[in-house]
Amino acid sequence: MKALILSGGKGTRLRPITHTGAKQLVPVANKPILFYAIEAIRDAGITDIGIVVGDTHEEIKAAVGTGEKFGVKVTYIHQEAPLGLAHAVKIAEPFLKDDQFVMFLGDNLIKDGITSLVEAYKKSGANCQILLAKVPNPQDFGVAVLEGGRAVKLVEKPKDPPSDLALVGVYMFDHHIFEAVNAIKPSARGELEITDAIQYLIDHGYRVESHLVTGWWKDTGNLEAMLEANRLILDTLETNIEGEVDAESQIAGRVSIGKGTKIIQSSIRGPVIIGEDCHIENAFIGPYTSINNRVTIIASEVEHSIILENCTILNIGARLEDSLLGKNVKIERNGRKPRAYRMMLGDNSAVGVI
Ligand code: DAU
Repeated sequence: MKALILSGGKGTRLRPITHTGAKQLVPVANKPILFYAIEAIRDAGITDIGIVVGDTHEEIKAAVGTGEKFGVKVTYIHQEAPLGLAHAVKIAEPFLKDDQFVMFLGDNLIKDGITSLVEAYKKSGANCQILLAKVPNPQDFGVAVLEGGRAVKLVEKPKDPPSDLALVGVYMFDHHIFEAVNAIKPSARGELEITDAIQYLIDHGYRVESHLVTGWWKDTGNLEAMLEANRLILDTLETNIEGEVDAESQIAGRVSIGKGTKIIQSSIRGPVIIGEDCHIENAFIGPYTSINNRVTIIASEVEHSIILENCTILNIGARLEDSLLGKNVKIERNGRKPRAYRMMLGDNSAVGVI
């Protein structure tokens, strides 16, 4: 069995972070989302992985490499434009050939991994296996209608959802999917939809099995979902302190602090992960915060946030919460007159002031 990870696309809902980088590489608990997918696939015993890449191919190749560090072999498949999930399958046919495969959307996180799901699919003899999860906002996903436990109808992002069962971004297929992706036409949004391809399988008498996901699952496409995924992963964090914590600092709960990081006169209340070579001084870092490498936080408070590498937060006087800061962001209170907010923000930035 092979795997296909989809890591192309545009990431519009995570702009401005994704103006400069791939959305699949935004870290959750200091690890790129994409790495969780690769590890889940490897843990299910699949080592031959195709990764579909688009405009951000260089960054993804630099992060993942040959796959050797994960114990897998990666083949990159270039998609010239994000023409849809089914289009990605279509162009991957020369790699996938006649093998069964699992398709994993590179921005999806699934807590319990996919090992038992892959086993169930192999045993089932089905042509396709989909995963479903109950969600409060089905209009944002592909939605399934079941009859007697079987999927009979799938609709992509319906305005008026026929159920609350969303399609999770992990699918299993055999080679009949190529017949489907070659037969369907682009949707109203101009994409070849995998949802339509699966509907084709159902309508043409192929066996499509569905499984309900009971553990958590996240499509990390927007800020709220990213923060929630961060929270869910940090809930499983283990304490590991490699950096230096001075005698005047307090560490409470599960906290991980990387090599070369200094914590001075600060209070860290876990779950919190702090990367390498950070400087945290006279600061409070509250629960559910992930701080990447080489970040400086002085005389400031941060909670329930994701801070990427090389950020500087100095003396801000209020607590930073529910925030995602991209690389190299600087937030600083200064005493310059006249007193004013001075900002340089990229397109689509969002700032909440008090
Ligand atoms: O997350 C689950 C949902 O994923 C499903 O419920 C939907 O049925 C399915 O269509 C998909 O919806 P999204 O709108 O969230 O898909 P998105 O455009 O975010 O793309 C998912 C991943 O696939 C993302 O990592 C980018 C990548 N991609 C996307 C397209 C359209 C590609 O590699 N190539 C593409 O052409």
